[in-house]
Amino acid sequence: MESTMTLGRSNLQVPRLGVGAMTWGDAKGLARLHPAKTAYGGPHGFEDEKQAFEASLMAGVCLFDTAAMYSGGASERRLGELARDKDVLIASKFPGTFFFRAENLPKELEASLARLERNSVDLYQHHFPNNSISIPQLMDLLADSVEAGKIKAVGVSNYSAEQMRVAHAALDKRGIPLASNQVEYSLLHRQPEVNGVLEACRELGITLIAYQPLASGALTGKYLNGARPSGLRRFMPNFRGKGRAAVEPVVSLLSEIGERYGKSAAQVALRWLIENKNVVPIPGAKNAKQAAANAEALTFSLTSAEIESLDRATLAWRV
Ligand SMILES: NC(=O)c1ccc[n+]([C@@H]2O[C@H](COP(=O)([O-])OP(=O)(O)OC[C@H]3O[C@@H](n4cnc5c(N)ncnc54)[C@H](OP(=O)(O)O)[C@@H]3O)[C@@H](O)[C@H]2O)c1
Repeated sequence: MESTMTLGRSNLQVPRLGVGAMTWGDAKGLARLHPAKTAYGGPHGFEDEKQAFEASLMAGVCLFDTAAMYSGGASERRLGELARDKDVLIASKFPGTFFFRAENLPKELEASLARLERNSVDLYQHHFPNNSISIPQLMDLLADSVEAGKIKAVGVSNYSAEQMRVAHAALDKRGIPLASNQVEYSLLHRQPEVNGVLEACRELGITLIAYQPLASGALTGKYLNGARPSGLRRFMPNFRGKGRAAVEPVVSLLSEIGERYGKSAAQVALRWLIENKNVVPIPGAKNAKQAAANAEALTFSLTSAEIESLDRATLAWRV
């Protein structure tokens, strides 16, 4: 398998795995002051993030995902700082909140570009749909920004199959492809396989960007020995009681398969996603060790028997 691919039908050539920078940066030191109240615990800090960034580039992973709302803009600012003068691909997102209006888009884009210290963003994604926004109107505004050279490719996030079709059709009228839909997808969250999103992506030539590909760390197996993860994710079902017990056999199977290749459970979990040629996982990495380990998912393959055994072992999450 090639180590890069075209993102949807856009002109962007991306690695088969990216890096999620959601936890990077710490606006006003809030995460440092209240780590237990953040999603993933306290911040790692500039040095760890810089090393994670550099380790990713060393491994050929040059796609970084961020959003205007991550740490109140601090994640975009951190990426802008780290990527200064570097040849990297940045995917960002503009808000999808109830209060967001399509006509706010140009202002949002300018604010993101200023934080990212760039004249254009490689992939610009609508973070999540909301009923008060007309998707065709929004896509028209995005198309204007593509034509103005400020966006290289258009993406959406958390869109249903139907919403994707509407966005795709609206952009198509302007001769612009919808490049990607970023949704939650992992061995412990296989909804895209049954809600039509994966199928619509395949049919329309749209790449599925898989967020939380390690199920927020549950698939690494490091939280099975009684350790609780930092931050609010400790309340997620995969980290408690019966939910955690159900994850155990999945991690055992991942480890068993990984042993054949000298890889970890996490690397096999990421590889399972990569084996689907239209899926790009974007695992979050807090330091160089995690970034380098995740990038190793690009260096081996699974057999169809191994893929099938993982499919069978996680049927309970295919709902
Ligand atoms: N579009 C959306 O609505 C949306 C929503 C959520 C996320 N996202 C995107 O998806 C990205 C990834 O999602 P995520 O960060 O929430 O979940 P994830 O990738 O499933 O899990 C990341 C966490 O797992 C642990 N980890 C990562 N690599 C590891 C390794 N090699 N070994 C051991 N532990 C490792 C780290 O936490 P610990 O070390 O603390 O365990 C890390 O913060 C985000 O950064 C963001 O860009 C998008």
